[in-house]
Parts: sequence; structure tokens; C-alpha cells
Amino acid sequence: MSTDAPADPSRRPFAGSANPRAGREESPLPTADAAYWEAAAASFDDEPDHGLRDPAVRAAWAARLRGWLPSGPAAVLDLGCGTGSLALLAAEQGHRVTGIDRSPRMIARARAKLAGREAAFLVGEAAEPPVGERRFDAVLVRHVLWALPDARAALRRWAGLLVPGGRLVLVEGRWGEAEPIGVSAAELTALVKPLAVRTRMESLVDDPALWGKEVTDERYVLLAEVPGGEAVVAGAGAGLAPPRG
Ligand SMILES: C[S@@+](CC[C@H](N)C(=O)[O-])C[C@H]1O[C@@H](n2cnc3c(N)ncnc32)[C@H](O)[C@@H]1O
Repeated sequence: MSTDAPADPSRRPFAGSANPRAGREESPLPTADAAYWEAAAASFDDEPDHGLRDPAVRAAWAARLRGWLPSGPAAVLDLGCGTGSLALLAAEQGHRVTGIDRSPRMIARARAKLAGREAAFLVGEAAEPPVGERRFDAVLVRHVLWALPDARAALRRWAGLLVPGGRLVLVEGRWGEAEPIGVSAAELTALVKPLAVRTRMESLVDDPALWGKEVTDERYVLLAEVPGGEAVVAGAGAGLAPPRG
């Protein structure tokens, strides 16, 4: 992921504490600003892992997503969906996708990318998605949670949007070497554990096909299944599959 984070360390969001919000209030990143993403929308897909234009990168994400999302056609909520690249992969795998993003330009691109598919895109706040009483089999969030002002509250809200046995699919990381930004797997696991009956973490570092290059910083997916899965029939919410490999 390219976050285009500023080099100025005074604007670094995370201080490496167990609280992933440490230091955020005092030093917000421009990525916390809606205008930043509006401006970024036009060139967002130029990054290999954003636009998934390279067939090898696209295939790598499609394969991962297949393992992370429920096996049957499912209702998937993609929060901070950006230009809809993952939403498109999910739709291609038979899922019904609702995408939410605060940036109207990102949403316009997502709508164009998924035109004619069973998908809906709304401009809205990821931490409080405007989905009313709807419930989802999976909430998918890639590279967004780390930039939210209250990650704990957002996770609680997202868990509440899931059907019994539904799952959070959280793709996050700590990007960069000297001044890493983001949220570590340990930090996120600690936040998610109280909400979940099962969690599973997969490192995404050793798969350069996902990023279009070798990476050495921390990148991972955290899968978390909320309670109630026993009562759910096979298909949506049928439990986390064993890890790949
Ligand atoms: C790094 S991009 C990730 C986009 C997409 N999830 C992906 O993986 O390709 C972050 C996205 O989150 C959106 N975003 C950031 N903060 C948000 C918020 N509070 N509510 C809704 N969307 C937000 C931005 O507009 C941007 O599209």
C-alpha cells in the first residue's frame, strides 16, 4: 500500500503503543482528511495493489479474497472501499457488495468500475456506515481502520452490522521502515478479540504478488468471526476456513 504519508515525523500517527490511536489527536495525518482522498482518487489506481491492473496482482488478491469471504454468495460491506477494486473481485466471486466511502470521487470510480453488477456504493462515514438495519455476512475493510479516529468504536459498530457468525475481514499493516505508520497485528488483535469467537491472522508480507514488489514491513489480514455461527446454515457465516498453506 502506498499511503503517501508525509516524511515529517511530527505528523506520524502511531507511537507504537498498544493503543493504536496513540499520538493521533496531536498529529493528524493528511490521510485523516477527506480532501486528501478526494484529491487522491484520480491517481489512486496507479498503485499496483490499488488498481489491480497487473493480472498477477489481481489474481493474488482474488485468491486471498476467496479464502477470506464466505464460500457461498454473501452480503459483503466494503468500508472505505476507495475505487472499488476489492469490491469488484468480491462481485466477480458472486457476492453482493455494498461499498461505502467518504470521498465522492472514489465512489464515482467504484460505481463506474462495477457498472452492471449487483453492487451499490454510497458516500458515507466508514465508522458509522449509512446502512440502516441491514446486516452483512462479511465486513471487508482494507487499509482504512488505521486512519480512523476511534478504531475500537468502529470495530464494535462493524461487529454489530454482522449476521450471527459473520466475519470481519481486516486488511491492515504498518507501512514503511524508518517511520512506520499504521496498526500492528498485535494491536488490532487486542482490539478485536473481545468481539470475536475466533480470530485468524495471515501475514501478507511473503507474497510479493499482492503488492507488485517485495515488501518487508508488516502487512496482514485479521479475520474475526462474531458469535452465533453455530446457528447459521452452510454458506454465509459458515465459519472461518483454515489458513492457506
Ligand atoms: C488507502 S484507501 C483504501 C481504499 C480501498 N479500501 C482499497 O483497499 O483499495 C483509504 C480509503 O478510505 C476512505 N476513507 C478514509 N477515511 C474514511 C472515513 N472516515 N469514512 C469513509 N471512508 C474513509 C478514503 O476516502 C479512501 O478511499
